[in-house]
This record gives sequence, structure tokens and C-alpha cells, in this order.
Amino acid sequence: MRQAVPRRYREAVADQPDILAWAADFHADPTTCRSLLISGPVGTGKTFQAYGAIRAALGCGRSVRWEAVPFADFTAALRPSGRDPEGSLERYRDAALLLVDDLGAAKSSEWVEETTYRLINARYEAMQPTIFTTNIPLAQLRDGLGDRIASRLVETCKVIALLGSDRRRAAA
Ligand SMILES: Nc1ncnc2c1ncn2[C@@H]1O[C@H](COP(=O)(O)OP(=O)(O)O)[C@@H](O)[C@H]1O
Ligand SMILES: [Mg+2]
Repeated sequence: MRQAVPRRYREAVADQPDILAWAADFHADPTTCRSLLISGPVGTGKTFQAYGAIRAALGCGRSVRWEAVPFADFTAALRPSGRDPEGSLERYRDAALLLVDDLGAAKSSEWVEETTYRLINARYEAMQPTIFTTNIPLAQLRDGLGDRIASRLVETCKVIALLGSDRRRAAA
């Protein structure tokens, strides 16, 4: 793996059967694999499962260019005042596998909607799989990011809802 896994999730192992099934699909053929939308309340293990899914999907020795970015960092990197906004978009747009963590967790605006649409539509057209995590219900994502994005997510994603309580509070 070229991209580093954040230290907290370095040992993450996906244990949700649906996520493991998705990872097996990606491993078998990344070009026909669906995207994945992991939803659930704060602290239920979405990011943990997402990194676990990446590890399982890539397997040993598989050379796949993957990227991972918190949604808020994605929108920050694409600000016109940023260092290389178009370069950042290309980096995420063209990765064979992309994790967008906490989709919708950035103050929405017409600009955020348009920028996110450019990423999601490009990957939609190229049929490249993306893992999204979000704690925002789909209806609310539609309100925040627009129907063009919500419609593409519904068509392309296998949706996995994580339930349970906040693991951070339980561990504290
Ligand atoms: N299946 C698991 N086994 C052990 N620890 C877990 C598991 N899922 C999540 N955690 C831990 O619980 C905490 C919250 O998980 P995280 O994935 O960050 O939640 P979310 O992304 O849903 O807010 C993290 O410290 C994470 O490492
Ligand atoms: Mg998270």
C-alpha cells in the first residue's frame, strides 16, 4: 500500500459479513465491484470497518492505487485558494479505490455541492468503486449535497448500516 493507514486503524479488521463480501468482490475484480456506503451513528466503527475493508480488498501484494480522505479535508484541499486544488481532485478522482470518510461532515454550500459532485460523478462515469462513511441519513445527505449526488449513491452503493452505541464512550 502506498497510502498510509492512520495509526488508529492500522490493525483494523472488518468483521461485518457484508463488508467482507464486498472486499472479496473488489479483490476478485475491482472494475466490476460496487461502491460501499457505511452509515451509522458516531462511534459505531464506520472508519474502522472502512480501513478493514480496504485491507481485505487489497489483500497481500496487490498493487492498487488507493486514497483515503476525510470529507472535510477533501473540501478544504479543493478550495480555490489551496495549493493545487485541481491536482488534489485528480488524485482522488483517479484512485482505483477511494475512501471518503464522513461524507457530508463539512458545512454545505453550493460550492461544496458542486465540488463533491465533480468527484462523485467522475468516479460514477468511470465506474470506479468508492467507500463512503457517513453518520447522516440519506434523505439529509440529499438535502445537504443535492439529488444528483444522492441519486448516484443510491445506484452504485451497497449500503451497510452499523448499529450500536458509541464505542469511544464505552471505552472511556
Ligand atoms: N470492531 C472493532 N473492534 C475493536 N475496536 C473497534 C471496532 N470498531 C471500532 N473500534 C474502535 O472504536 C473507536 C470508534 O471507531 P470509529 O471507526 O472511529 O467510529 P466512527 O467512524 O463510526 O465514528 C475507535 O477507537 C476504533 O478503533
Ligand atoms: Mg469515523
